Amino acid sequence: MDYFLTESQTEIRDLARRIANEKVKPVVAKHDRESSFPWDIVEEFRNAGLFSVYIPEEFGGLGGGIMELVIVTEELSRICGGISLAVAGTALGTFPILLSGNDDQRARFLPDLVAGKSLAAFCLTEPAAGSDAGNIQTKAVRKGDKYILNGTKHFITNASVAKVYTVVASTNPDRGTRGASAFIVEDGTPGLRFGKVEDKMGIRASKTCEVIFEDCEVPVENRLGREGEGFKVAMRTLDRSRPGVAAQAVGIAQGAFDLAAEYASKREQFGKSIGSFQGVQFMLADMATQVEAARALVYATARMIDSGAKKIAKESAMCKVYAGDTAMKVSTDAVQIFGGYGYMRDYPIEKFMRDAKITQIYEGTNQIQRTVIGRHILKETASKIK
Ligand code: CAA
Repeated sequence: MDYFLTESQTEIRDLARRIANEKVKPVVAKHDRESSFPWDIVEEFRNAGLFSVYIPEEFGGLGGGIMELVIVTEELSRICGGISLAVAGTALGTFPILLSGNDDQRARFLPDLVAGKSLAAFCLTEPAAGSDAGNIQTKAVRKGDKYILNGTKHFITNASVAKVYTVVASTNPDRGTRGASAFIVEDGTPGLRFGKVEDKMGIRASKTCEVIFEDCEVPVENRLGREGEGFKVAMRTLDRSRPGVAAQAVGIAQGAFDLAAEYASKREQFGKSIGSFQGVQFMLADMATQVEAARALVYATARMIDSGAKKIAKESAMCKVYAGDTAMKVSTDAVQIFGGYGYMRDYPIEKFMRDAKITQIYEGTNQIQRTVIGRHILKETASKIK
């Protein structure tokens, strides 16, 4: 299918595809088995400039947008959904600075993030604040020219490997979502430490762990936006990062599909390839159609955001929910096509199914996405029938 990519987007896609095939592919199984972070691959991404594609030129980036980020994330995820998070998780942690940072904060933090010298992490989720992100318990109490942070964030992608942490904490617990504020916390700040490292089902090459603040002193100049704006900073960030998860899901689905189609044409039973049976052909046809539909929705959403559209929450949630559900369905069907071999770790296909599952869970469960979509539909309908 023609996706009407620009020349520069085609170059970025080809570059990411080449790195994924030549550099990532040989080490996927090792990092998945050992659950180790791929620093060697991060170096390749740095050298290729993959951390800079979505950052405007004025901040030293390549000048692309969400579409460029989506292209890179999809290409890397075709080969490894976990390794793609070194880039996509850093983008998630960087968005609050791009969206709400002042000139000084952008000048201090963006150059190293653009170059991939620093990775970033976004710290919103807590043990009691998953889907209910407004229920954060981490406190930030102002003392003179500092905020003192106390609390625990968990399930944080890139935690312990990142240098820059964008953190949402409560500065006024009585005001709920309107009492949250966002901060930049640098690795090495006294009082910042990392706790439990998660042993995950999938995306095992990505680091996920607790981020603990114990009387952690953060200078006032590291606050992003005004006090009380933190929840909105988080929501605006997620509106822009969810298409990235959707792209990760499309990549996982495409990777699984490619392996299944190849297997179906080679594997023989009853004296002919299993792909020559209509039952398998119908499965492949549905899988291919679903992947194309998901990709079309992700690209349309990315282009809409890049065009400067203001209302993007509904579409961002739609592409995340559709692509995440597609990745789960297509990767499960891919395992089915492999039959018994698909269930064995000797074959690469079961990893796609394990990796797919997270795309229905993180950056807002697919149930939360449906809530977001439903609320917008009702609001739009109410304004039409007024
Ligand atoms: N943009 C701007 N503002 C927004 C917004 C958006 N998209 N969505 C909500 N807001 C504003 C509202 O207008 C409201 O503002 P006012 O106080 O001025 O009225 C305020 O935020 C509160 O909004 P709601 O009343 O809708 O808040 P809520 O408590 O009902 O929660 C929710 C809404 C959509 C369920 C939200 O809690 C949510 O998105 N939950 C999921 C959290 C999530 O995605 N977590 C993922 C963490 S990151 C992660 O997984 C990353 C990783 O490691 C890879």
